[in-house]
Amino acid sequence: MHVVLSIGGSSIIPEGKPDIAFLKAMALTIKKSKNSFGILCGGGTVARTYAAAARELGAGEYEADSIAITSTRQNAQLVMAALAGAGVDVYRRVLTDFEDAKGPARDNKVVVMGGTIPGITTDTDSVLLAEAIGAQRLVNISNVDAVYDSDPRKNPSAKKFQKMAYDELIGLAASSDKRMAGTNFIFDMLACRLIARSRIETHFVSFRKMADVENAIEGKKHNGTVVSS
Ligand code: UTP
Repeated sequence: MHVVLSIGGSSIIPEGKPDIAFLKAMALTIKKSKNSFGILCGGGTVARTYAAAARELGAGEYEADSIAITSTRQNAQLVMAALAGAGVDVYRRVLTDFEDAKGPARDNKVVVMGGTIPGITTDTDSVLLAEAIGAQRLVNISNVDAVYDSDPRKNPSAKKFQKMAYDELIGLAASSDKRMAGTNFIFDMLACRLIARSRIETHFVSFRKMADVENAIEGKKHNGTVVSS
């Protein structure tokens, strides 16, 4: 089975420094699994810092996004190095186009990507990669361990969802859109709509809980959230 992993930049480089232990653990998990993988890497704080600096220097949004995309691809290269180091059969180029992922994925090679075009996020990219290579499962790995009804970092009594339907996730994404800037929802609205249209089973787990990551990859029970029909 093809599985897409969406690994947030906050997991690859928490506080701007690559998390070597996590990258090694992730590579070993992939090596052990019988599944085939597509991996989409996020930008995290480094991407945001570069985009903000570009804006301060007078760059427009397209340029700021382009710089952030470069950061996501740099993270992807790091993930690729971790996989190669662990002996995983990984395609040795960070792909920039979903079409290019189809061939290697058909050969069961792990494909690794960062962002693609300005104006979207790596959440959306990860679902597009899943659609392109025919993955029916997507695992979102970030610094939040599940989907909550409000931001658990700001509201300690936030309710965690173990399971939810696509419509519920879309509803939650829509209501959190109206909240103040800086209270980002765990998955952007377009990405939520795309998993719903292709009925991709989507798991939300934390990079700090590798047992959950492994169980999510195999479609087993875990302490995060599963979104399905
Ligand atoms: P991310 O999706 O990584 O955003 O893209 P994030 O909020 O930093 O997510 P985490 O923290 O990694 O989980 C970083 C930025 O890269 C640009 C956008 O500016 C986005 O905010 N980007 C990314 C694009 O313009 N296009 C893409 O396809 C991907």
